Amino acid sequence: MNHRLHHDGKNGWVGKTQYWKDAVVYQVYPASFKDSNGDGWGDIPGVISELDYLRDLGVDVVWLSPMFESPQKDMGYDISDYQAVYSRYGSLADLDKLISSCHERNMKLILDLVVNHTSDEHPWFKESRSSKTNPKRDWYIWKPARYDSDGNRIPPTNWRSYFAGPTWTWDDNTEEYYLHLYGSFQPDLNWENPSCREAIYQDTMRFWLARGVDGFRIDTVNKYSKRTDFPDAPITFPGEPNQPAAEMWCNGPRIHEFIREMQAKVLTPYNHALSVGELSNTPLPSQVLPYVSAANRELDMVFEFSMIRLGTGGAFQDKYLYQPYPLSQLKAHVATWQTFLEGTDAWHTVFCENHDNGRAVSRFGDTSSHQNWERSAKAICLWQATLTGTLFLYQGQEIGMVNMPREWGIQEYKDCESMGFYQEAVASGDPDRISKTMDGLRILARDHARLPFQWDDSTNAGFTSERAVPWMRVHDSAFEGLNVNRQREDEESVLGFYKTVLKLRKKYGELLIHGAFRHLLPEDEALFVYVKEGAESGRKALVLLNFSREEQDLSTRQLSVAGTLGCEESQEATLLITTLREGERPGIESPEQLKPWEGRVYVNFVEEA
Ligand code: GLC
Ligand code: CA
Repeated sequence: MNHRLHHDGKNGWVGKTQYWKDAVVYQVYPASFKDSNGDGWGDIPGVISELDYLRDLGVDVVWLSPMFESPQKDMGYDISDYQAVYSRYGSLADLDKLISSCHERNMKLILDLVVNHTSDEHPWFKESRSSKTNPKRDWYIWKPARYDSDGNRIPPTNWRSYFAGPTWTWDDNTEEYYLHLYGSFQPDLNWENPSCREAIYQDTMRFWLARGVDGFRIDTVNKYSKRTDFPDAPITFPGEPNQPAAEMWCNGPRIHEFIREMQAKVLTPYNHALSVGELSNTPLPSQVLPYVSAANRELDMVFEFSMIRLGTGGAFQDKYLYQPYPLSQLKAHVATWQTFLEGTDAWHTVFCENHDNGRAVSRFGDTSSHQNWERSAKAICLWQATLTGTLFLYQGQEIGMVNMPREWGIQEYKDCESMGFYQEAVASGDPDRISKTMDGLRILARDHARLPFQWDDSTNAGFTSERAVPWMRVHDSAFEGLNVNRQREDEESVLGFYKTVLKLRKKYGELLIHGAFRHLLPEDEALFVYVKEGAESGRKALVLLNFSREEQDLSTRQLSVAGTLGCEESQEATLLITTLREGERPGIESPEQLKPWEGRVYVNFVEEA
């Protein structure tokens, strides 16, 4: 940690600390992590009380999702005061204590920076909407109405918003529309206005950096620059008033200028504060590279979404119409983003969960039996922890938390996006659309990741006191052993496995965190196989993951462990780790057979003590 570079070489610029490349980052969704005062809502004192748990797991950086003052219509991604802590999360003093408690443990803390939009209750917006001549009018994006051939008022463009409906809402007072890419309660800030940008830097960033925060996960980082000619989007869904329009407001003409300015004026001066951007709708490596090339001085790394969006019908109206996909497609996305760094000065992230997606084990793994659940949760761990880039874990991933039970009805879903799509389906009056949307939500909804964290098998799973009413229903699996307490004492549990593997990841960082990725058997629909190679040592790791519930045979695929690793005799290949429990291992000396959902790593060297 804290490795300082003293040269201005390929890896960065002078004095830039790069601890974050090797770090394990853990996302805390504060409402659902740990409640300290029995009001059913997680809070900052709760997070502080579990920092030792996180340290023990192997976490280096905590990313805290928004805990700012907010009407909570989008769980704090709608901020009404950037400098205040929402009272149910605690106080500013609690946040200061969280910063120092992280630092005492040699951990870092990053916050969520949500500055594409504010809440409509933010004082800036209240001023902006108060009159057309208000000095902050231009801090948001206002446009006059259009009228159709029958004289009806229609929005300035036909763009569809993320949570269904148009991106424009009419304001009666000043008789103009304002732009919002998300909910109507989340008006977009106008980054074209320099005093608005300066207010963002000062009030939302420097304020927290000065208090000791180590950086930001930057929400919707590529949406600050929109096309300013506001054209209609082409018609993708004939007959619908609102059309997908990402190309109109994503990666716009000034986006790189804005991000470079933010880096130069704010992040760099604060000791190169860590920056990880949320980069949706940007599926091409050539588009991503400019954001993360060290020479460009924009962002340290970004989240790219091709893999995590698998199964969605699309980004807009059809998002929750589930689309099955083959394993080869998942692997192809991983391969693309593992190799796009090669020969560049860029860096990337590794993740398979966050607060906006269903649980990985329910999507990419297998919950059909206890054994398949446990094995596939460990296979996912091994997969993620052997990939190149900074590893991000989402709370509960380390114990294999799963999606809501299928039987739970729509009343258990609370998210504004889930609601928007469900109500849209209901409004269509089409029973098939309603049932398909519900099916999609059961796999993909953002709600799954927001269920209370499962600490133990008491009533309310140790998330909150036994008498409290948690803000979301506690998953039944908490009482069937899927919780920290049950797994803590068992080294071979999912949690125990994460701890072991995170240590191996650091120990063999040259291979596992930084190594070159070589994809084998890309067309195979059951096995995920790749080699990681160290740049200097000539060391190699062969990762074998059985992503199926059937046994798989390597010999029928002409895959030899020793041969792949370049070992002359098979004894020279060392089994570094397997997902199997001790008692499940007989026969593992013959590496030909992989059990259902088994994962293994072999290396071409003798393990160090
Ligand atoms: C990001 C957040 C998501 C939020 C949206 C609007 O995508 O991750 O939770 O709804 O931005 O701020
Ligand atoms: Ca609380």
